[in-house]
Amino acid sequence: MNTYATVVLAAGKGTRMRSTLPKVLHQVAGLPLIAHVLNAIESIPSASAFTPLLSTTNTHRPIVVLGYGAEQVEAALGERYLYALQKEYLGTGHAVLATRETVDRLEPQPQTVLVCYADTPLIGNEILARVLAEHLRHQATVTFLTAITDQPSDFGRVVRDAGGQVREIVEMKRANDEQKRIQEVNSGVYCFDREWLWPALQSLPRNPSGEYYLTDLVGIASSQGRKIITVNGSLDETIGINDRVQLAAVEQLLRRRILERHMYAGVTIIDPATTYIGADVEIGTDTIILPGTMITGKTRIGSECRIGPGTTIDQSIIADRCIVRNSVLEETTFEEGVSIGPFSHCRPGAYLARNVRMGNFGEVKNSYIGSETDMHHFSYVGDATLGEHVNIGAGTVTVNYDGVRKNHTNIGAWTSIGSDTMLVAPVTVGEHAQTGAGSVVKSDVPPGAVVVGVPARILRMRQPVDGSTAESGEKE
Ligand code: UD1
Ligand code: CA
Repeated sequence: MNTYATVVLAAGKGTRMRSTLPKVLHQVAGLPLIAHVLNAIESIPSASAFTPLLSTTNTHRPIVVLGYGAEQVEAALGERYLYALQKEYLGTGHAVLATRETVDRLEPQPQTVLVCYADTPLIGNEILARVLAEHLRHQATVTFLTAITDQPSDFGRVVRDAGGQVREIVEMKRANDEQKRIQEVNSGVYCFDREWLWPALQSLPRNPSGEYYLTDLVGIASSQGRKIITVNGSLDETIGINDRVQLAAVEQLLRRRILERHMYAGVTIIDPATTYIGADVEIGTDTIILPGTMITGKTRIGSECRIGPGTTIDQSIIADRCIVRNSVLEETTFEEGVSIGPFSHCRPGAYLARNVRMGNFGEVKNSYIGSETDMHHFSYVGDATLGEHVNIGAGTVTVNYDGVRKNHTNIGAWTSIGSDTMLVAPVTVGEHAQTGAGSVVKSDVPPGAVVVGVPARILRMRQPVDGSTAESGEKE
């Protein structure tokens, strides 16, 4: 049976990042570097190159080699993976050897060990499947992924003999001038024959830098006359991140890929250069994203929306035909047809029902706003429940915090809240009621009542505005 173990190297400190955070936890497109690699590994079985050569679905969980910041990385990744600990960071060869016991305990015993680095987040499931498939097809001892580039920078160089056979991989630090000019580089994805791997790792020489290089296995296999296969991939998929300049370059590439996915799926993005969309965001067709917009987390946006310019949306659900201009939404839900902005802020727990119109300088937090409600100018609604067809006058504030507790405000359907009303919670304004401009409402307002003043008192009763009858309360 052709099963394979997967090993992801994540023990290094990432010195060149100059960070206290372990390198593999730095993020691109809103996910830690290592999470991108693990996602690619876990989706190998759905890749088209995952040929019948792999006769069974692989059930082995990926093995992550931890070292620097081990607890932090493990906490970030959780129980989904197996872990091996590299106690000293003696190089990539030493790191793979640290997985020996874990790999050998797997049932059924894998014939192949696939090794990836956690700092290459652009790697995709298709290319991993291709490396695996080629390795099995050729029954090779070592198969590895290469790329051609005229800027080989700090990649290991692939050295071939006159006949084109691979002889070794030479690390940049040890390369002579001629080798430095080689344009075929090691991308850092390998398949090894498991039985060959362990003794070969144990025979690795220690480099002058004190490290055991995984890449030296290629030279060992070559000198033993073993079969070495290379798979040529695109550099775009294999850029490794060693410093923050590379981090930004990869961010840009990934960002572009995500934007293109949405554009091909029917979303208009006016200015890709200033639009940021996280990896887990979903957007419906014919939605238009205007410049300067950032959409992150597990946000879902419906069809025919207009989002931006200058808008930030995180972890939110926006239904069809909503308009969001120059606003910030966090953990917010909009039903269909909501329009907001410019310059408004919905904080966690804001729920705006159908066709709510919220204009400029409004803030809503932990509140339900009933459908067709208008709240056009600079108001704060926190910890409140509003019915439908409410009109919130300019400058209305729910005074929800008494210095100790957050208190709730209820505003019934069809109420009209006058400009500059202070609703001192806990308080309830009954349906069809009205507050005069500048009232300070400290006690409950009966349905249909018109209140004014400081503190607000009943002035008169009000005719229902929608033609229906207020549930209780006198009429004028
Ligand atoms: C490595 C390759 C190089 C290749 C490049 C591709 C070696 C010796 N060199 O270089 O040929 O072109 O990747 O991106 O392998 N790690 C450990 N334990 C260690 C050292 C490293 O787990 O003791 C992990 C790191 O966390 C990292 C990965 O291995 O995720 C690669 O290490 P890194 O130091 O970045 O190797 P490169 O210099 O990029
Ligand atoms: Ca690297």
